[in-house]
Amino acid sequence: MDRTQLTTSADLTREEVDFLMEEAEKMRGKNTDDLKGKVVATLFLEPSTRTRLSFETASHRLGASVITIADPKTSSVAKGEILADTIRTVEKYADIIVMRHPEVGSAEEAIKYTKKPFLNAGDGANQHPTQSLLDIYTIKRESGGIDGKTIAFIGDLKYGRTVHSLTYILCLYNPTKIIFISPNELKVPEKYIKMLEEKGIKHEETASLEEKMPEIDVIYMTRIQRERFESDDEYNKLKGSYVLTPEIVKMGKESLRILHPLPRVDEITPDVDDMPQSACFRQAENGVYMRMALLKNLSANYYK
Ligand code: NCD
Repeated sequence: MDRTQLTTSADLTREEVDFLMEEAEKMRGKNTDDLKGKVVATLFLEPSTRTRLSFETASHRLGASVITIADPKTSSVAKGEILADTIRTVEKYADIIVMRHPEVGSAEEAIKYTKKPFLNAGDGANQHPTQSLLDIYTIKRESGGIDGKTIAFIGDLKYGRTVHSLTYILCLYNPTKIIFISPNELKVPEKYIKMLEEKGIKHEETASLEEKMPEIDVIYMTRIQRERFESDDEYNKLKGSYVLTPEIVKMGKESLRILHPLPRVDEITPDVDDMPQSACFRQAENGVYMRMALLKNLSANYYK
C-alpha cells in the first residue's frame, strides 16, 4: 500500500483492505512509537463521539500528539473562513490531518490544498471510508469472512454515508447477496445499485425486514439521519421505521451479527445489547485498531 491520503472507499483495492485488516489486528492492545514526534490534527466541523475520540486514542497509542477542533463554533469557520484557508493553515501546524465536514465533496476539496497525510472522517451524506474499513474488519472478525455472506443494510440508506462507503468495500469481495431494507423515501442512491449490477453482485431492495431475517448473516443497522432532512416534518414521518428487538433478532440465524456505526437513536432496543448477536460496541473498539493501522501506514508512506 503506498497511499498517503484517503477520501473515499471507491478507490480502495482488495489488497489494501486486506493489508489494513492485518495491520489493525496487529495493533490490538498495543502502544507503539510509530508516530513519535508527529502532530495529528482532528478537525471536526460536524458532531462526533466515536470517530474523533477513536482517532485521537489511536494517535496517542502510536505516540503522536493531537490538536483538535471539536466544535466549529470555536474555530474561525464560525467567522466565515473558507475551507482552503483552514487546510492551508492546519497543514503548517500538523503532520497528519483528519477532517469531518458537513458538505459532500469537502474531502476532495481539502486535498487540493495539502499533500500531507489526510483522512476523510465523513463528508456530509457522501463518504466515511475509515468507518467502512473498521466495519469490514468487524464483519471479518465476527462472521469469519465476507465471501458467501448475506449482508443487510437497514434504515436510512439514502443519507447514511457509512452505508455508501461499506457498499464500495463489499464489492471487492464475494458476498452471496446484499439486501437494502429501507422506506421508499430513503432508498440507497441509484449509483450504488448500478455498481452492484456491473460487478455482478446479487442484491435486492425491499421495505420489509421480518421476512428477510432467516437468510441474513450480518445486519448493518443505521440511524435515520435527521440533520440531512429539509424539515422536521419529513423526519418525523420516517423516524422509527425499523426497530430491532430481541423478538426480531430471534427470527434470524444463531450466527447472525448486528453492526451499527452508532449513535443509535431508537432503532435497536437496549435489551438487544446483551445478546451475543450484538457486535456494536466491539465494532466501536475495532475503530481504534483500524485507525492506528491507517495513521501509521499513511504517515509512513509520506514521511519516508
Ligand atoms: C456515523 C457517521 O457519522 O456517519 N457515525 C460514526 O461515524 N460512527 C453514523 C451516524 O452518524 O449515524
